[in-house]
Amino acid sequence: MAKTQVSLKVNGEAVDALVEPRTLLIHLLREQLSLTGPHIGCETSHCGACTVDLDGKSVKSCTVFAVQANGADIRTIEGMANADGTLHVLQEAFREMHGLQCGFCTPGMMLTGYALLQRSSDPGEPEIRHAISGNLCRCTGYHFIVAAIRAAAHSRTSS
Ligand code: FES
Ligand code: FES
Repeated sequence: MAKTQVSLKVNGEAVDALVEPRTLLIHLLREQLSLTGPHIGCETSHCGACTVDLDGKSVKSCTVFAVQANGADIRTIEGMANADGTLHVLQEAFREMHGLQCGFCTPGMMLTGYALLQRSSDPGEPEIRHAISGNLCRCTGYHFIVAAIRAAAHSRTSS
């Protein structure tokens, strides 16, 4: 099948890749760019494990064709830590608040939380629960994930 070149920014670095028209963004990230942080749970847009940030919005990368991401600025969990290697405030909060167990949902949860904190400085519990309603977690019961996102928002506003 004929391939198309796409150019995008991923975690701050310019990337060019050849993709088939049917290639999904999650497959470009995982298989061609070796960014295996975004997980594949369902490939039917239900679980949110594949969530990444695309131009400031959290998207399920199994629902986006790679060609649709041409020109986009994408962040995955691999690009979340601060430039000096320290954990991003959300990563620190998930660790502190026990916001993960097996970790399968965690990259998607964090990227959803990341987009939420870009648009809302101090989201309350209902707003957080609404934001993560497209991300499934089989382990935590969600309570500590919500607490972690709240804690990240608070530590950001207090720093
Ligand atoms: S793998 Fe994309 S939503 Fe489940
Ligand atoms: S921590 Fe296991 S699925 Fe969420």
